[in-house]
Amino acid sequence: MSATINPIELVNENDHLQLINRLDPKMTPLAIDFLSYYHDMTLGQGGRRLLLKALGVKDKVRMHVLDATAGLGRDAFFMAKFGLDVTMIERSPLLAQLLNNALKHNATTIKRLKLLSGDALKLIPTLAPFEVIYLDPMFPQKKSKAKVKKDLQILQILHQDEPQDSTELLKIALKHTKNRVVVKRPINAPFLDFIQPQWSLRGTTIRFDVYVSR
Ligand SMILES: C[S@@+](CC[C@H](N)C(=O)[O-])C[C@H]1O[C@@H](n2cnc3c(N)ncnc32)[C@H](O)[C@@H]1O
Repeated sequence: MSATINPIELVNENDHLQLINRLDPKMTPLAIDFLSYYHDMTLGQGGRRLLLKALGVKDKVRMHVLDATAGLGRDAFFMAKFGLDVTMIERSPLLAQLLNNALKHNATTIKRLKLLSGDALKLIPTLAPFEVIYLDPMFPQKKSKAKVKKDLQILQILHQDEPQDSTELLKIALKHTKNRVVVKRPINAPFLDFIQPQWSLRGTTIRFDVYVSR
């Protein structure tokens, strides 16, 4: 058995947290700045419009979504900016600290966004049921040497030893949602745990599988 040493370290630059690779200082640091997501050209278009449809968002109806795999908080930020109340869960303690730091710096603009740090598998059963649970689990990393974007290299290292337990997550989410679970998948990936959703919405590179409860 071989253990991987994780070289990723959290540093604090004037109260702005970032992750660096201490073995490769040239690697682009990873930080979260919600304001930069405003300028994301894909925001509100294509895939994300599809996401709102998959969540079942209706005009002027408030909805509380649990984003159980928050990551960098991009999808959660989009949902919150669209007017949904969003609770995020992130299992990686380092990413959770980045998210927390980003929330602190943008507290006035992102009131609808909350964060719980921990494992969604353990936390979901302790929370009151949410109308919708959203899952965007990591897809197993490709064996190919295809390079990931520079700003995501640290993320890749961070997740290299992550347990592959997203099928468990889907089962727990299905038990604890009031209305539906939405799972984001690469366009041609099999259904999570081969469980057939009620329907899927297909974009160009991604797909949202919708599981309706009852
Ligand atoms: C693909 S990323 C999500 C990206 C996110 N949708 C975004 O817009 O930035 C998946 C994230 O889910 C987290 N995750 C996976 N399983 C989890 C679990 N059981 N509980 C909490 N977080 C989990 C991983 O640590 C990773 O950061």
